[in-house]
Amino acid sequence: MSVCGLGYMAVNVVDMDGWLDIMSSVLGTELLARDEGGIIDIRLDDWHHRLSLYPSDSDSIAVVGWELANEAELEAMVAALRDYGVEVTEGGEALRDERKVTRVYAFIDPASGMPSEVFYGAQSEKLPFISSGGNSGFNTGDLGLGHVVYFVGDYAESHRFYTQVMGFRTSDHIIWDEGEKDATFYHCNPRHHSLAIMPPFGDIPPGTFNHLMLESNSLNDVGRAYDVVLDKKVPVMMGLGKHTNDLTVSFYLVTPSGFGLEYGCNGRRVGDNWRVKSYDAPMLWGHREPED
Ligand SMILES: [Fe+2]
Repeated sequence: MSVCGLGYMAVNVVDMDGWLDIMSSVLGTELLARDEGGIIDIRLDDWHHRLSLYPSDSDSIAVVGWELANEAELEAMVAALRDYGVEVTEGGEALRDERKVTRVYAFIDPASGMPSEVFYGAQSEKLPFISSGGNSGFNTGDLGLGHVVYFVGDYAESHRFYTQVMGFRTSDHIIWDEGEKDATFYHCNPRHHSLAIMPPFGDIPPGTFNHLMLESNSLNDVGRAYDVVLDKKVPVMMGLGKHTNDLTVSFYLVTPSGFGLEYGCNGRRVGDNWRVKSYDAPMLWGHREPED
């Protein structure tokens, strides 16, 4: 069995205003305020929400949610996680209602240390998503929310966990900067990758969340979003560019929580006959780090 997509994410956030400005003015998502606690759910497709922001006095990843196709797949995944030695707890009514899913289990991902969940049966909304910014929407559906990238301490064991326990399939590897930087990319649906992992370099600690990627339906939306980011002086992690492996045209902003948010379009799709590839650079062009 295998996870079938990145389902949702939630973040504990100090600077809510900064996040909400990015979510509305840069990405054109729909902001849904809960009745209590200042929590904001974020809608960006037909799901009730795919992102949640929890006001907090420190920034951290609250959860990364992985989708399973149905109840049998979910139960098999929970059994596989427990066989690997992971403590898995079933979410009750409150968590199911919060995530708007049919069934959910929580665990700490042993490879990355990320608070994580597996679930099935997300609630879809009757009314269509309408972008607050007039954008053409996000490419999600069977491709999932997008992708996440983690820095992991034990690269080889993490590869084993994600492929043999969670069922990801390898898309490709990139090794660059004379071997200092190394990344492995994994798919679980036609999106080129829903997950990538890297051993840390420099002073980055293992267990660091590097970035979340969201895919737009339109290059124009990505270009306009980049204009807004530059105009508003939102910190940029990497400027506009195109990746070698997934062929996405994207830029990366730095969220107010310190990790990256990649916004791109025209990502590559993979099929059953995919052959694992390798590359010696992550970008065909661009993706330059801003000068100080
Ligand atoms: Fe990415």
